[in-house]
This record gives sequence, C-alpha cells and structure tokens, in this order.
Amino acid sequence: MTALPKAELHVHLEGTLEPEDMVRFAARNGVGLPWRSPEELRAAYAFTGLENFLSVYFQGCRVLCTREDFRELTVAYLQRAAGQGVRRAEMLFGPQAFLDRGIPIGEQVGGIVDGIDEVRETHGIDGALLVSAHRHRSEGDALELLELVRPWRERVLGIGLGGAERGNPPAKFARYFDAACAEGYRTTCHAGEEGPAAYVTEALDACHVERIDHGYAAAENPDLVARLADEQVTLTMCPLSNLRLHVTDDLTTYPLRRLLDAGVPVTVNSDDPAYFGGYVNENYQAVTDALDLTEAEVTTLVRNSFSGSFAHAEELRDVFEELCPKASDVSRCVGS
Ligand code: HPA
Ligand code: ZN
Repeated sequence: MTALPKAELHVHLEGTLEPEDMVRFAARNGVGLPWRSPEELRAAYAFTGLENFLSVYFQGCRVLCTREDFRELTVAYLQRAAGQGVRRAEMLFGPQAFLDRGIPIGEQVGGIVDGIDEVRETHGIDGALLVSAHRHRSEGDALELLELVRPWRERVLGIGLGGAERGNPPAKFARYFDAACAEGYRTTCHAGEEGPAAYVTEALDACHVERIDHGYAAAENPDLVARLADEQVTLTMCPLSNLRLHVTDDLTTYPLRRLLDAGVPVTVNSDDPAYFGGYVNENYQAVTDALDLTEAEVTTLVRNSFSGSFAHAEELRDVFEELCPKASDVSRCVGS
C-alpha cells in the first residue's frame, strides 16, 4: 500500500493540523484553546456529525495566524503524504475563517505555496492548491473570495465548496462555480456526504463541477450511478471520515466496490486526517480490510486517483508507466 504511487485529491489542509501542532501553534501565537493538551484534544474528537466536527475544526483553525504557520502546516502534511507514496496532492483550503480574523490572503496563500515549493524540492511531491468556500455562508461571500484570490491566480489550480451541507444545496453557488469556470479554474464540490443524492446531481447540473467530493449518497440512486460511470465523474471518497462523522456506521457495507463495479471512477482520500484517525494509506487499509479488496481493485483505485486529478496528462505519463507496465495500458490510463 505504502509503496504504491498515488494521488490524494481530497484533503483539507486545516484538517491536517495534528493535536501536538495545534497546542504548539496556540502557545506560539497566544491563542487560548478549550483543550490543554494533545490528549485532551484527541478525547474531544468523538464527533456526532459533520456540523459538530466543523465546530471543533474551526476552533483548531484559530491557532493558524502567520505565513510561517501556513508554511509549516503545508510542509508537515506534504512530507507525511510523500512518506505514504503520494506523488500528487490536491489540497483544499478555506481562507474565509482566517479572513474573518483579519489574516491577509497573502499570508495564507503565500505560506502554503512556500510549503508546496519547498517539499517539491526536497521530496519530489507535486502539491497543488484548491481554494474552497464555505457553503454555510452566502454566495456573495464566495464570489468575494474569488476576487480576493485573483492575485494568486497562477498558484491556485482549482475551486471547491465545503462546510455544512444540509440546507445548503450546490445550486446556491451556481454563479460562484460559473465565475470560477470562466476564470479557468478546475472545479470540485462536496456533495452527498450528509446531503442527499440529489445534491450530487445538482452539483453536476447547476454548478457543472468536474469532480464530486464524497458522493457517498450517490450509491443509493442507480440512475445517478449509471450517469457517473457514463460521464466518468470522479468521486473523492473518504472512508474514515464517513465512519467518524456517522455518514456510515460500518465499512463492510461501504459502497466503494459497488461503485467501482458499476464503472464509477472512485478514489480513496483522507479528508481531515488529523481528526479522523488516518492519512491516505490508513484509508486504503480500512476499505481493503472491510471489503476484502483485491490487488487489482486497489490498483484501479490508485490509477483513478491520477486520472481523476487535475494534473495534465503529460505530467502523469511517468507515474502511469509505473502503474501500467504494458505500453498499451499507458495510453488507456492517460486517456490520450
Ligand atoms: N465536509 C465538508 N466540509 C469540510 C469537511 C468535510 O468533511 N472537512 C473540512 N471541511
Ligand atoms: Zn472534505
């Protein structure tokens, strides 16, 4: 599992903040926390659902204040990911919580791109940034965020949408995604995590996004499953997140194999690894154990992670050669 080259397509940088670092950053920046130690923090990570998790997650975000904090956070995640065989990491990051606290966008994005550049040099991992808006805020706020990141256009690969899903359907953000698309950003949207399958359909039809983050609920709708397969829409699934947030209570019934068998390009990702008990390989391991996945199925998952990435086909050629030793397979993987 570790040895297999893979891409991670769904990880929130803020969700990679380990308890030890949260306590360290809090002390360094003079930020008070309701928890005094990493042990107390870990004990607080018994979430009842997405919104309960998000309240803890946003408290954690309060300790990140300076360009250096964002750089260190990015470096720590990318180094760890590289150690798990991750060659390409597309990292979501939500500036709005930090903007609320007066932290300039340049400090945030500047620190992240410093980290990306540093670990590309030291570990050869290809990091990319996806800026994400919070759906429990207004579409106006999301459009404002797009304006704010304009000076960083060259360093922001894509645009996403996360946050509290219930009651905040994708269509609320149709103009945000249209504007992102017009500016040439790649697009992805959380849908079908706690929300219904209809939100997945809406993300495709109203927002025209290229990828769906989670998409768990899609599995209950056969017509939608057929459509996802037909249109080859990548789902960035996160098994340990879904378990910890009670989207599912048992990974032995996780719909990943059913989706794979139906031809949907499913991928495995960590979401918020510091909060959900595992990075990408622990997620692969958990579904492999629960569903007794074969080696061929795991190879399909890692292959999907590259073909579903927003990297150019040319950038992926080398890695596909490793994954598909037969030359004829390489063109199939790269899709050119
Ligand atoms: N869902 C929605 N928004 C998020 C998540 C998630 O799992 N993690 C961080 N923001
Ligand atoms: Zn997520």
